[in-house]
Amino acid sequence: MSSLLVLMLLMFCMGAINLEAQDLSLAPDEVEALLEVATQLGKKGWNRNMKLCNDTILPPKLEADNKVVCNCSFPGEPCHVIGIYLKRQDLDGTLPKAIEKLPHLKHLSLANYLSGNIPPEWANTKLETLSVGVNRLTGKIPSYLGRITTLSYLNIQDNMFSGTVPPELGGLVNLENLTLSGNYLTGELPPALTNLTGLKELRLSGNNFTGRIPDFIRSWKQLDTLEIQAGGFTGPIPSSISLLTNLTDLDLSFNRLNGSLPTNYDGLKSLEKMYLTRNMLTGPIPDWIDKRDTR
Ligand SMILES: *[C@@H]1O[C@H](CO)[C@@H](O)[C@H](O)[C@H]1NC(C)=O
Ligand SMILES: *[C@@H]1O[C@H](CO)[C@@H](O)[C@H](O)[C@H]1NC(C)=O
Ligand SMILES: *[C@@H]1O[C@H](CO)[C@@H](O)[C@H](O)[C@H]1NC(C)=O
Ligand SMILES: *[C@@H]1O[C@H](CO)[C@@H](O)[C@H](O)[C@H]1NC(C)=O
Ligand SMILES: *[C@@H]1O[C@H](CO)[C@@H](O)[C@H](O)[C@H]1NC(C)=O
Ligand SMILES: *[C@@H]1O[C@H](CO)[C@@H](O)[C@H](O)[C@H]1NC(C)=O
Ligand SMILES: *[C@@H]1O[C@H](CO)[C@@H](O)[C@H](O)[C@H]1NC(C)=O
Repeated sequence: MSSLLVLMLLMFCMGAINLEAQDLSLAPDEVEALLEVATQLGKKGWNRNMKLCNDTILPPKLEADNKVVCNCSFPGEPCHVIGIYLKRQDLDGTLPKAIEKLPHLKHLSLANYLSGNIPPEWANTKLETLSVGVNRLTGKIPSYLGRITTLSYLNIQDNMFSGTVPPELGGLVNLENLTLSGNYLTGELPPALTNLTGLKELRLSGNNFTGRIPDFIRSWKQLDTLEIQAGGFTGPIPSSISLLTNLTDLDLSFNRLNGSLPTNYDGLKSLEKMYLTRNMLTGPIPDWIDKRDTR
């Protein structure tokens, strides 16, 4: 706790020093890019004469409603935009293709009333965290999203995306946290998702998938959270789930899973919560549930 405090204090001081030394002046072409971004988003009030960067410290877990974060520590360079956070700002434009013109942008979080789809220009970015959740986006999940291989976090939840999950998403090899919940996604999960071996959290709830929960979930060895509530899945719970030794939270409720609970769950050493309500599972409650005092 105290070392965290010292660290925060240190980061604050470093930020203050940078403020003094560099006056937070943003690279001129990035000012223009930000104004273009604002226009595309339908955001009013930004202009060339104001300090568009609010901060030099990234908020934890994308938690900021209205902030542009810059990094002013590039030696001999002006500040560069590294994060844009605009949530609950009632923006009703589209996802801004102009973010392509912000070469240092790593974090983008936009939850408003934005419509349309993810622009192809975004495939050229080096984004690491991307949330376009809670908007009014429509159409298929574009395959070119799979080209932003720097992504470790991707969230498109609570939109109106439809169609199948493109196999190209399997190219996001650095992905740790993926949320596709609350859309109109259909079809089976593509086997290419096997490649997402770094996944720690996966959320697919509230969709209209078909077919089984695939056996290839066995390749997601780092997975600690798997949430597929009301995903539409049928068939048995794959027994390979028992290979997920890091799994703590499992929610497979409100699907149409049938068959009996696998008896060989000994590998689920970390399991803390398991929800299987509202399926068509049959057979006895296996011993391991009694032994583990899991509900
Ligand atoms: C950041 O700057 C914008 C534009 O000036 C302003 O609207 C917003 O309130 C600021 N946000 C914070 C967290 O300071
Ligand atoms: C800011 O840029 C410097 C120089 O490239 C880099 O070392 C540092 O990690 C960056 N900070 C953040 C928060 O991205
Ligand atoms: C998944 O990995 C395999 C083997 O490395 C590779 O051949 C395949 O193209 C990858 N799929 C995607 C969608 O990246
Ligand atoms: C992963 O994403 C979900 C949904 O946005 C979020 O609730 C969760 O906190 C994220 N986990 C981490 C470790 O960032
Ligand atoms: C889900 O799919 C089934 C059959 O494929 C269809 O009958 C149902 O209307 C769909 N539900 C939604 C919410 O799209
Ligand atoms: C499980 O989690 C631990 C610590 O959280 C980590 O060191 C390990 O690499 C993870 N993966 C597996 C497969 O155990
Ligand atoms: C599960 O449901 C499918 C049809 O969706 C059926 O073919 C299969 O026999 C069922 N399995 C069990 C064990 O009830």
